Amino acid sequence: MSEALANLLNETRQFPPPAELAAQANVKADAYAEGERDRLGFWERQAGRLSWAKQWDQVLDWSTPPFAKWFVGGQLNVAYNCLDRHVEAGRGDKVAIHWEGEPGDTRTLTYADLHKLTCQAANALTELGVTAGDRVAIYLPMIPEAAAAMLACARIGATHSVVFGGFSADALTNRIQDATAKVVITADGGYRRGKPSTLKPTVDEAVAKCPSVEHVLVVRRTGQDVAWSEKDHWWHETVETASPEHAAQPFDAEHPLFILYTSGTTARPKGILHTTGGYLTQTSYTTHAVFDLKPETDVFWCTADIGWVTGHSYIVYGPLSNGATQVMYEGTPDTPHKGRFWEIVDKYKVTILYTAPTLIRTMMKWGEDIPAGYDLSSLRLLGSVGEPINPEAWIWYRQYVGRGELPVVDTWWQTETGAIMISPLPGVTEAKPGSAMTPLPGIVADVLDDQGQSVPNGGGGYLVLREPWPSMLRTIWGDDNRFIETYWSRFGAGAGGGDEWIYFAGDGAKKDDDGHIWLLGRVDDVMLVSGHNISTTEVESALVSHPSVAEAAVVGATDPTTGQAIVAFAIPRGSAETSGEAGEQLIADLRNHVAKTLGPIAKPRQIMLVPELPKTRSGKIMRRLLRDVAERRSLGDVTTLQDSSVMDLIASGMGGGK
Ligand code: WT7
Repeated sequence: MSEALANLLNETRQFPPPAELAAQANVKADAYAEGERDRLGFWERQAGRLSWAKQWDQVLDWSTPPFAKWFVGGQLNVAYNCLDRHVEAGRGDKVAIHWEGEPGDTRTLTYADLHKLTCQAANALTELGVTAGDRVAIYLPMIPEAAAAMLACARIGATHSVVFGGFSADALTNRIQDATAKVVITADGGYRRGKPSTLKPTVDEAVAKCPSVEHVLVVRRTGQDVAWSEKDHWWHETVETASPEHAAQPFDAEHPLFILYTSGTTARPKGILHTTGGYLTQTSYTTHAVFDLKPETDVFWCTADIGWVTGHSYIVYGPLSNGATQVMYEGTPDTPHKGRFWEIVDKYKVTILYTAPTLIRTMMKWGEDIPAGYDLSSLRLLGSVGEPINPEAWIWYRQYVGRGELPVVDTWWQTETGAIMISPLPGVTEAKPGSAMTPLPGIVADVLDDQGQSVPNGGGGYLVLREPWPSMLRTIWGDDNRFIETYWSRFGAGAGGGDEWIYFAGDGAKKDDDGHIWLLGRVDDVMLVSGHNISTTEVESALVSHPSVAEAAVVGATDPTTGQAIVAFAIPRGSAETSGEAGEQLIADLRNHVAKTLGPIAKPRQIMLVPELPKTRSGKIMRRLLRDVAERRSLGDVTTLQDSSVMDLIASGMGGGK
């Protein structure tokens, strides 16, 4: 770690917004008071940022909790809000998407272009017999057609279910079957890590087991040979020849917009259902508020895949409903070289970058010289999402990507919440590295103890949401009981305590002395060591704050004396000496470093130096597998791993280190 960084870490732990940004921010401090004074009125005003075909009669119907209805009686069309209204306002020539393929091919789509493609796709889907309420599965690479396909579904009231292109035939089959999808939209393949990957064969395998599927629409991306059946239709022969005229019909505010299956590394995936009016209201507002998006001048880039909720809310619905210009990139950050992301920021003059901690830590591992090789001066705001961001990674992000001056917004939310819930406001909040800070205006979050009591400042427990919010999930597709069971039965009315319905997020959290919220990871990731609750995130952050560690994962392993013991896996930084005695010394140093940082109770029983960590395709560490290693069990299901060879590397190193 450089000296500047070390000083920063020690000297300042709170970063006020840059004065210029604060003065011109879309949302100022008064929004909090407004949300508190009249929460429903606040959301009603945000809904007013959209174009409605019919005004609602009631903001929120919460008469049958936990089943919420927002903007009851209102009608709107999501695609109209994302496309037509910008074109009608004379902004048809404005760039909607700067698309960059992994091999370096590019496309520019204006709002008029994306509108046309979406209308054609809407007509083609209608021609294939898709009507409002039908489900359409989308299994595509990161190409503009993915956004057009989603918008076309929204336009005709079909409910899309996007399945991440990295998922296997089994995962795709389960998701198609659960939603009984009528049509699948896919491609021959996409580009990943420098070569074409295939998608169509996976769809063929799945469709063979899914009698609900009547048609498959196939985009030609790579030109690979594909098997063909009578259900298959080329996108370029069906969509691109269809009429570009399509009048968007308004749909009820509670019309199902999409189902998205949560990654589910343990249990059966849950089909999270989102609806129309409330979802668009909150994704649109949070894009405006949290990213301070100025559609005339900003270039927004969310690096997520469209297969995750982040891509739904902050590539498609949030930015497009605001009329933003954005970047969409097909491939991986190190293809063909480790500077690819920064090259893209430089090329398109990206102003707002939204990415994940796992990526930031990877960039840290590669070293700050790489971003230093590009002109990143266009950037004015940085965002993070997906897991707790270690203070060290936050500081690095601000320092080496944000020139030591840009605001970093650490945004907490979930597939289930649909949109950002807890985050700094970039023009208001004095952010603390590693903290998501405060609930957004109009959102009521809290941290409860085991008994369901709100913890005082300084206390820790479970993160909950105390009031319904517009973009909340409405249910689990086809399983209302599981919806109640999973989210509403831990605390409050659903647990038999009082009248208040309390949403259980499944995350551990603490309130610091100022009442700011720090996320501590999934509650399943809290360890109980000699009767003390210790979060994996805290120990990981302590390890990463050591100059020789690039990334770390921590699990609790059964221990005869302490109940659980802390076992850590650490990836050394490039320069750290790790073999033989030097390795032993480093491990001893790291154990002491954690004990010094968090207290002796948090000292890991064992630390293993490893070259990589097992991650899901969305970048989350699979602690379950590390626990198997730590407890010397045979490995559980590895099919959702991004790279399954990682586990062999880790397991073969097991036994070294103490
Ligand atoms: C879980 C939800 C929300 C889009 C991507 C993930 C973790 C997410 C943060 C954050 C700490 C975070 C939580 C949450 N998470 N953002 N800023 N700080 N933790 O969506 O796959 O539904 O995962 O991701 O554990 O519950 P998801």
